[in-house]
Amino acid sequence: MRTYDNVLEMIGGTPMLRLARMDAGPCTLFAKLEMQNPGGSIKDRIGLAMVEAAEREGRISPGGTLVEATAGNTGLGLALVAAQKGYRLIVVMPDKMSREKVAHLRALGAEVVMTRSDVGKGHPEYYQDLAARLAKEKANAFFVNQFANPANVRAHEEGTGPEIWEQTGHRVDAVVCGVGSGGTLTGVGRFLKRQSPGTKMILADPEGSVLAPLIATGHMPNAGSWLVEGMGEDFVPPICDLSLVDQAITVSDRESFLAAREILAREGLLVGSSAGCIVAAALRWCRAQTAPQRMVAIVPDSGAKYLSKMFNDYWMLDQGFLDRPHHGNLRDLVARSHTAHEDYVVGPSETLMNAYGRMKLYDVSQLPVIDQDRIVGIIDESDLLIAVFGHEQAFKEPVAKHMTARVETVAVDAPVAALMPILRAERVPIVMDGATFVGLITRIDLLNYLRRKVA
Ligand SMILES: Cc1ncc(COP(=O)(O)O)c(C=O)c1O
Repeated sequence: MRTYDNVLEMIGGTPMLRLARMDAGPCTLFAKLEMQNPGGSIKDRIGLAMVEAAEREGRISPGGTLVEATAGNTGLGLALVAAQKGYRLIVVMPDKMSREKVAHLRALGAEVVMTRSDVGKGHPEYYQDLAARLAKEKANAFFVNQFANPANVRAHEEGTGPEIWEQTGHRVDAVVCGVGSGGTLTGVGRFLKRQSPGTKMILADPEGSVLAPLIATGHMPNAGSWLVEGMGEDFVPPICDLSLVDQAITVSDRESFLAAREILAREGLLVGSSAGCIVAAALRWCRAQTAPQRMVAIVPDSGAKYLSKMFNDYWMLDQGFLDRPHHGNLRDLVARSHTAHEDYVVGPSETLMNAYGRMKLYDVSQLPVIDQDRIVGIIDESDLLIAVFGHEQAFKEPVAKHMTARVETVAVDAPVAALMPILRAERVPIVMDGATFVGLITRIDLLNYLRRKVA
């Protein structure tokens, strides 16, 4: 068992696991666990390789500033290296990325610039264009630019590829991965095509990305949008060699997220959304085989960064990726059912401090006040604020003293339209089934319901 002197020495050499509990048809399916890198993703490899290459070329030296455009993971890999080698790091990220990634980056000392996710290449707020501009504007700054950096490809051609070859005993019929910068596909593909020309490179591509349709038709379609993070593109990155792809498989967000949840449930592996996309494509390819094949799926990152998203049932329900039971009444709009014990409540004799703590912990802005399972009021952030502003000791006072006792109830079989006058009056509709409190409906619950009606 090796002891390391520096966290950077722990990059690479990641384990390979046989996914024995997934239905892979006649195939043997392996997972290359890149989430086991110290920064939590495959991008640690390129973070180190790109910095060391620039140092060898005399383009940077400790004390300098690195700037990069990233979905998060390359930023984390670079942040790990920058912290150990003494560089300042500025990363530019699209705002669809998880808050866990942003928190992790900042905690590693990186400066994070968030920008719009809904604009494409060429737009001044597009993350790659903004990063390039920031690097130009700053003195002594180096634009790492993973999308055009040959050290990115080399890291996989000299690292990931040879490891897969060793760990499969030189017997691998296919490898599936995705494309963000294209470094993994191009590096691993180049190595394996040289070493084992019969090995197939399978591209897993999120629905909405341009890559799989481009490979299938030869024409560049308009990019759509997708929630899978780190993969899928609206252009072909300069370093990405699509000619290495033998087959491209398009996977929807829903299928990717459900696959990631299944891998956790069956194999005990907490993987990221792109790994869900990759394994979903791997399973589809494997099940279509008629003879035994050995397939390796590259798992780029850990699921720890997506706990607030695809591993959160309410997020999945709100996004429409999990089917909720359909009641045909206002129960369908109640995100957290009181009858199913899914909501967060407070008692009338509890303190305002408790109410405040619960609102923060569960990220809700109001709590039903429940006394012996009967709703007796509601307390929200403004009730708290009015109570404690200039009189902080009120945090110790009971909720009953500051709650709103006059609640706006609606019958469970009332029309959706009955909600609007209450919401317009800045009140919260309380859904009742007779004398039973079903749950409350917030503005965002109604928006989610209306959003689900849009195809
Ligand atoms: C989670 C995740 N998956 C997959 C990829 C794609 O890897 P590559 O950039 O080598 O194409 C990335 C790249 O950022 C990623 O962050």
